[in-house]
Amino acid sequence: MERRFKRTLITTALPYANGPVHIGHLAGVYIPADIYARYLRLKGEEALMIGGSDEHGVPITLRAKKENVTPQDIVDRFHSLIKKSFEDFGITFDIYSRTTSPTHYQTASEFFRILYDKGVFIEKTSEQYYDEKSRQFLADRYIMGVCPHCGNDQAYGDQCETCGTSLSPTDLINPKSMISGSVPIMKETKHWYLPLDKYEPFLRKWILEEHTEWKSNVYGQCKSWLDMGLQPRAVSRDLDWGIPVPVEHAEGKVLYVWFDAPIGYISNTKELLPDSWETWWKDPETRMLHFIGKDNIVFHCIVFPTMLVADGTYNLPENVPANEFLNLEGDKISTSRNWAVWLHEYLEEMPGKQDVLRYVLTANAPETKDNDFTWKDFQARNNNELVAILGNFVNRALVLTEKYFDGKVPAAAGLTDYDQQTLQDFIHVKRDLERLLDTFHFRDAQKEAMNLARIGNKYLADTEPWKLAKTDMPRVATIIHIALQITANLAIAFEPFLPFSMEKLNGMLNVEPLGWDRLGATDLLAAGHQLGETELLFEKIEDPIIAAQVQKLLDTKKANEEANEEATGKAGNRTKPIRETIAFDDFSRLDIRVGTVLACEKVAGADKLLRFLIDDGLEQRTIISGIAPFYDPDTLTGKQVCFVANLAPRKLKGVVSQGMILSAEDADGQLTVITPEKFIRPGSEVK
Ligand code: MF3
Ligand code: ZN
Repeated sequence: MERRFKRTLITTALPYANGPVHIGHLAGVYIPADIYARYLRLKGEEALMIGGSDEHGVPITLRAKKENVTPQDIVDRFHSLIKKSFEDFGITFDIYSRTTSPTHYQTASEFFRILYDKGVFIEKTSEQYYDEKSRQFLADRYIMGVCPHCGNDQAYGDQCETCGTSLSPTDLINPKSMISGSVPIMKETKHWYLPLDKYEPFLRKWILEEHTEWKSNVYGQCKSWLDMGLQPRAVSRDLDWGIPVPVEHAEGKVLYVWFDAPIGYISNTKELLPDSWETWWKDPETRMLHFIGKDNIVFHCIVFPTMLVADGTYNLPENVPANEFLNLEGDKISTSRNWAVWLHEYLEEMPGKQDVLRYVLTANAPETKDNDFTWKDFQARNNNELVAILGNFVNRALVLTEKYFDGKVPAAAGLTDYDQQTLQDFIHVKRDLERLLDTFHFRDAQKEAMNLARIGNKYLADTEPWKLAKTDMPRVATIIHIALQITANLAIAFEPFLPFSMEKLNGMLNVEPLGWDRLGATDLLAAGHQLGETELLFEKIEDPIIAAQVQKLLDTKKANEEANEEATGKAGNRTKPIRETIAFDDFSRLDIRVGTVLACEKVAGADKLLRFLIDDGLEQRTIISGIAPFYDPDTLTGKQVCFVANLAPRKLKGVVSQGMILSAEDADGQLTVITPEKFIRPGSEVK
């Protein structure tokens, strides 16, 4: 049954204040939340968008230690930077506060205390690593040792970053404290646990039966957690940075960061609305939505709801439209490896281009699967869509009005069938956009808005008013009238997505923002209305700008590699650890063959590539290989090589490559082709 709500509380994941925010944050959480909040407000609905910095947790203490400053210094620095980046990108929080605020300390302590007094928590003593030298228990991240899976000797107590396996501290071989370098001992410590297992039947019903409409990535993750069976989770830690556990004899213990952070949503609402915050959290007519990334799903769908239910006076989220991850040029975004496009740097380097990034990140939003951000795609979307479709249409409509009608909206006279059909085409835009926005399909919604600009472009291209000016001014007037109505509709449809540009467009149209309910109307601009000054909405981004961004990333890669060498002291001996074990079956799926090189030449326009023509025993095939820097192609003709014969064909520089030539790579990246020890019939299998 469809429930009716009076107002919507939008929460956005609180970013850790241990670094600046990057495009992954924007794409995953803040842009979709902002589009949604703007949409609701445009519709005149009551909505709040809550944000803030997450200022506790071990990574913040680690960074502070490294820089020899206090954790408070770290969070002060990044909170301001993050807050400013969000403002600069037009993310319309009603409040952006922080988890070191007094209101939050009080709210989180009270929340814990209520559950504690109700006897919700289990108290349990367990053994954990303890550093005798620095006299403290060690958080998982403070312990380093050898990864039992890949042999990396710098694996952390919670994860090995070389092979990606998640670990617990006792898995590590030769564990060492990162604080003192000493070998930690096991020591007993007491903590408070939230018994998620007891709430499992409730959670199963609430999610698996009552929220089948949640996005499949979210529902699926919840289901697999629930199917694995829930365990009690510790909600306290031995740490000196955080909110003290508010009970007697709990010295040195703080609330676990994932316990206090989501309560930050409540604290920040309270800070904004000290008198009416409860309406937003407890009135059943309020709908709560959590906008988050996929690594936060379990906390927002299972842990936090359990806390809310255990209290018993709060609403539960109605939906949790979590996104997957955005990668950058094929690699996972990483704050510690500086592999990111930082928002504050973007704005310095591309001033005024907030909407371009908003557009590209929405067009590529990782809504259903991980997605990749590339600078090439950024350029293409700007040049081929924002400039060539939206900007071009708006500009033509406005310039023609200036040229033929002194910038005044002309009156329409006698619509043709084609005019009628064009109007029909955009009338349904409102319904389609709403259906998509209501179900959190932001990338399709933006596409739908762009479609309106396409309709406009096609209309002008088909009717060619500039050719009629000498012969049929009444017809020109009608065409321009319609084009201007489409333009005004664009100003509404794109407002949630491209707020900066639409503000500019409203200025160009000389109108106050038109309400959402007017979307689809064909009389937004009255005949005789005087337009404002025409400017360009978007400008082309040239190759050198993009090349500079790509170079910046290449520099980062290089710096990381050098830093790695230094850290591991293995500059001359960088043999990579052996990868994860695979089953024999996995190996036998590879079809590796010997082939004879019939011809070999450089690929025009690609420094690194050679094109091989190979006799594979059955026929001749073309394979492209990136070994041009290491070989004179002539020396390879007539030789035999080994190649993967059943690799799916790939297009490289416009040539289809049917396989992969095997070569060995040394520590300096030098490649040498693998050849059989003596001549063998082409097509022979390598096993
Ligand atoms: N700081 C967490 C992260 O970046 C998100 C916290 S969301 C909250 O992954 F609900 F806990 F606030
Ligand atoms: Zn490992």
